[in-house]
Amino acid sequence: AAGMLWGGRFTGGIDPLMHKYNASIGYDKALYKEDILGSIAFARANSKTGIITEDEFQTIERGLLQVMEEWKQGTFAIMPNDEDIHTANERRLGEVIGKDTAGKLHTGRSRNEQVVCDMRMWLRDRIKEIDSQLVAFLKVVIARAESEIDYLMPGYTHSQRAQPVRWAHWLMAHAAAFKQDLERLRQVFERVNLSPLGCGALAGNVFQIDRHAIAKELGFSGITLNSMNTSADRDFIIEFLTWNSIFTNHISRWAEDLIVYGTSEFGFVRLADAYSTGSSLMPNAFNLKKKNSDSLELLRGKSGRAFGQMAGLMMTMKGLPYCYAKDSQESWEPMLDSVEFVMDSLGIANGVVATLTVRPERMRAALDMTMLATDVAEWLVKKGVPFREAHHISGRIVALSENTEVSMDQLTLEQLQEIDSRFTADIAEAFKYESSVEAKSAPGGTSRSAVLGQIEELRAILE
Ligand code: ARG
Repeated sequence: AAGMLWGGRFTGGIDPLMHKYNASIGYDKALYKEDILGSIAFARANSKTGIITEDEFQTIERGLLQVMEEWKQGTFAIMPNDEDIHTANERRLGEVIGKDTAGKLHTGRSRNEQVVCDMRMWLRDRIKEIDSQLVAFLKVVIARAESEIDYLMPGYTHSQRAQPVRWAHWLMAHAAAFKQDLERLRQVFERVNLSPLGCGALAGNVFQIDRHAIAKELGFSGITLNSMNTSADRDFIIEFLTWNSIFTNHISRWAEDLIVYGTSEFGFVRLADAYSTGSSLMPNAFNLKKKNSDSLELLRGKSGRAFGQMAGLMMTMKGLPYCYAKDSQESWEPMLDSVEFVMDSLGIANGVVATLTVRPERMRAALDMTMLATDVAEWLVKKGVPFREAHHISGRIVALSENTEVSMDQLTLEQLQEIDSRFTADIAEAFKYESSVEAKSAPGGTSRSAVLGQIEELRAILE
């Protein structure tokens, strides 16, 4: 341990397994750039207060930029004693510009604030990318919803055919959930994008450092409120993992619907070859009848992982005493992993929906007249019949249709009038799927204008 940066008071060596167990360099090296930019901003702020000279700052900056270049070129050599990205960069800076000046970089600074700075910068930039990916995905969804607005399909409750809806309404149903995810993501961004630098290990900075100037240089929209909270807190990651749990949950339900709609039994949609697989055993796989929807299944499956990462970090942080403890390092891997897989997932989801073959004739064939029973009751209500009575009358018509095996719209007016004398010839309108969906014209409904209204509202936040 005497060789470690903090090794001043240590004499013996560290257990090699302990070194491996303790080290985070294996994954936090991914944030070398953020770490270096944070250091430059910090050193600049120290030079403004005079605690380091302008010359020293320039030497440090030049050295750090060289270290950054080494990372970029892949020539940075990680040494056995490099515990994490912060110590590795500082060690290398010492080799490049000399230990005396490099030793001034960490003036008034702690790794506790540095690690939070790196993670916050990195995560907020990834959130911006995820935001653009989600926007791109939703643009494909609304483009389909607009061009396929005339396709009708069954809407389901309890997985049973319930009422006819537009296919575009189904697209927008899931898009409504994703819209909230987008709004939520933008709120998470605001809380992630705060600068921790100038908080010290826990108690604050003694050199009158200008926290706002550092924040500005690093693109943060503000600074964290309290130094103790700053080193103790990993809420900004938990919040992202929570966002991801909710989002992947929505993706999972979306994928599940498409998996079902893609079965031979339904046949509403067909997944493009690019997002399907065959079977290693069954030769029938990968013909039209058995294409496996692995893309959608993985999208569905990831939600379990997302939830596990959120729950895992919550448990790690629960009961952790203020301020910093090494347990917090456990926030790295779920953060890195969740960002990677959610970005992949969005790319896959986008590709799936962009290349999906939709089969409106199969959707239409799945509609059945009894799904219009509610429309019949509503027709009666418009004639002044109380809804409960109308519900009962309509039920009798469904029963008659089932018993006689005659589709509801083929029953004669006389047969209908035998059940209730108030039926007139214009009941025929109620037996049309198009009239049924067009009747649902209140905002949020499945009429053409109501669906277009939803599309417009969503589009407004995608620009
Ligand atoms: N690798 C550490 C982490 O991720 C950096 C902070 C170390 N701070 C400390 N006081 N040991 O949490």
